[in-house]
Amino acid sequence: MNDPITLIGIGEVGGILARGFLRAGHPVYPITRGMDITRETRYTPEPALVVIAVGEQALHPVLDALPPPWRERCLLLQNELLPEDWARHDLPEPTVMSVWFEKKPGQDVKQVVATPVYGPQAGLVLNALSAVGIDGVRLASAESLLFELVRKNLYILTTNLCGLEVGGDVATLASTHTTLMTEIAHEVLDLQQVLAGQPFDRPALMTAMQTAFEGDPTHRCQGRSAVARLRRALNQADQAKLAVPALRALGARHLS
Ligand SMILES: NC(=O)c1ccc[n+]([C@@H]2O[C@H](COP(=O)([O-])OP(=O)(O)OC[C@H]3O[C@@H](n4cnc5c(N)ncnc54)[C@H](OP(=O)(O)O)[C@@H]3O)[C@@H](O)[C@H]2O)c1
Repeated sequence: MNDPITLIGIGEVGGILARGFLRAGHPVYPITRGMDITRETRYTPEPALVVIAVGEQALHPVLDALPPPWRERCLLLQNELLPEDWARHDLPEPTVMSVWFEKKPGQDVKQVVATPVYGPQAGLVLNALSAVGIDGVRLASAESLLFELVRKNLYILTTNLCGLEVGGDVATLASTHTTLMTEIAHEVLDLQQVLAGQPFDRPALMTAMQTAFEGDPTHRCQGRSAVARLRRALNQADQAKLAVPALRALGARHLS
């Protein structure tokens, strides 16, 4: 029997990963919302990995409550994640994955492009992904991880926020609403640069977003979290004193 995996959050992504780790021969210990995390560490004090598969709004409260032995072995996978999110909790060295497969309730898993993974337990995660037929790729550096996180954030925010305005799929967004897409994408990158505290290679990120569009051209733009994402982006822009006129125009039309 391989080392156990602790899984916090048994939702859509958590369910896929549970199957992957089980198929790879690891016992999986679930942590659901009602459980006392500190008590549960008695049963699996030193799992190989603590998978934090809760949504982004629950991430920080969960990390705040994480007991010391588990803090050293986290896997983070949330959309909109940036290094600041784990730096503020002093997590020593999390494993991080930028999820590029989609799993919606009632639907099978669908891959957009390969899922990049970085960190001490990347091999373990790649084995679990492979066990459920999902392509993964191991990243070689923290710089390439930052690029991949920003790429995913650019994709998810641009498509979700433009989707509020025009609906449709990502191929139609890129081909028919190019001006809107480009304006929103650049304002999203303005925001990401402030949050990450450094400039990015924008042409490379725009090309990487386009590659993801081509990976699943019929991917719907407007996800279930689009309104919450727009609200969060505008709050971040206010705090950073960024103008972001195109995002604010979306806010005026779609936030009541
Ligand atoms: N699904 C996708 O296709 C996809 C793709 C890319 C990235 N992601 C990212 O993956 C993350 C998870 O997404 P998801 O679709 O799997 O979400 P989900 O289906 O809503 O699952 C989240 C799970 O976390 C649980 N949870 C919330 N707070 C908790 C707590 N304090 N303790 C224990 N469990 C808690 C929820 O439990 P309750 O049922 O009690 O609320 C739920 O089961 C998100 O950050 C999302 O951005 C998802």
